[in-house]
Amino acid sequence: NGITTIDPGYKNTGSCESAITFLNGEKGVLRYRGYAIEDLAEQAEFLEVAYLLIFGKLPSKTELDKFHDDIKEHSHVDEDLKKILDGFPKSAHPMGVLSSLTSALVAFNPSSVNVDSEEDMYNAIVRILAKFPVLTAWAYRKRVGRPLDYGDDSLGYVDNFLKMMFKKPNGEYNSNKTVVDALDKLLILHADHEQNCSTSTVRMVGSAHTGLFASLSAGINALWGPLHGGANQAVIEMLEKIKEDGGDTHKFMQKAKDKNDPFRLMGFGHRVYKNFDPRAKIIKKSADEVLADLGVQDPVLDIAKGLEKEALEDSYFVDRKLYPNVDFYSGIIYRALGIPVEMFTAMFALGRLPGWIAQWREMRLRKEPIGRPRQVYIGETLRDFTPLKDR
Ligand code: CMC
Repeated sequence: NGITTIDPGYKNTGSCESAITFLNGEKGVLRYRGYAIEDLAEQAEFLEVAYLLIFGKLPSKTELDKFHDDIKEHSHVDEDLKKILDGFPKSAHPMGVLSSLTSALVAFNPSSVNVDSEEDMYNAIVRILAKFPVLTAWAYRKRVGRPLDYGDDSLGYVDNFLKMMFKKPNGEYNSNKTVVDALDKLLILHADHEQNCSTSTVRMVGSAHTGLFASLSAGINALWGPLHGGANQAVIEMLEKIKEDGGDTHKFMQKAKDKNDPFRLMGFGHRVYKNFDPRAKIIKKSADEVLADLGVQDPVLDIAKGLEKEALEDSYFVDRKLYPNVDFYSGIIYRALGIPVEMFTAMFALGRLPGWIAQWREMRLRKEPIGRPRQVYIGETLRDFTPLKDR
């Protein structure tokens, strides 16, 4: 068929042209639409960054207000969706619940499927940005047996999300500025990362002109895996395990290096970053600040720092250019904010939502062809068919 070479894992294959995120893995540079991630994390709000990623420019105050108003307008989720949520066992992983509910949203919003004009796209975009935080909060509340409800539209996007997640029957929740700011920053750091596994999935599914919500649902499933977004949950579980085992980081380092042992140091290594992950640098600093601000003492932070120090001096990790990635410290902050470990990857999904949307929109506006890689066939050549009775 003319195909003679393959690139497993697409390590060296560009799948598209994109004007959204610039990434230099050797120098540890990450920019959204030309803006340094460090500046955005420090000075912008998550919804501003979402607008920037999706529409390509920083919004004026009027544009941002309108964007937020349009989102607020659509935060209602059809009551019947609660019946679907009801059908899940409490033990269901929130990522499975989220991908299913995001898919189910299509049925309740059929106009979001055929989106040929920019206006149709905009309408689908504000709807999902509005409903996704509700679904994320509901996935959590269902898990812990709390009543499903809405937040308070007069609050900012992130603050409102925290309220939806944690509010008690009297409406109270922890709205401490440190908590809101830290979550805002984490979501910004997760908002896009060019053609990673989940984003490529969203673009691939969307390239068949599948609607936005269904494409996003596929992206959520891709993100769930422990080699991708699921790593943030896996990191904390690993650090806990090391703690329970007596805190011997060296022992786990040896396991990670042993090629006969499937154990990997979760939160280490990256397909593109070969020097450092700029997001990890920001998050590490932020973890120290958040824990100090909230007066939280988390012994796994010391284990994380110990592991990092040891890995940075170990020739196995140095030779393979394995450094802490974004997920290494993010779980420690999530924990300090009161977010349970099984929700970590769902938080990543909430942050990545604008990136997925921006990439899907770009793909559609550029009228990219359907994604359809080729293969090198290595199976049998033509052989004679044996009827069932003779086999
Ligand atoms: N612990 C131990 N060894 C590792 C690790 C690790 N975390 N990561 C890579 N290696 C080794 C790997 O065994 C291989 O060694 P060798 O050359 O001797 O066979 C070499 O380093 C190259 O690894 P690779 O698996 O070929 O690299 P990749 O680009 O295919 O994988 C990765 C990248 C992120 C999947 C991988 O580093 C990994 O599994 N890390 C742990 C999971 C993790 O933290 N994932 C989050 C990634 S960042 C956020 C996100 O993408 O969502």
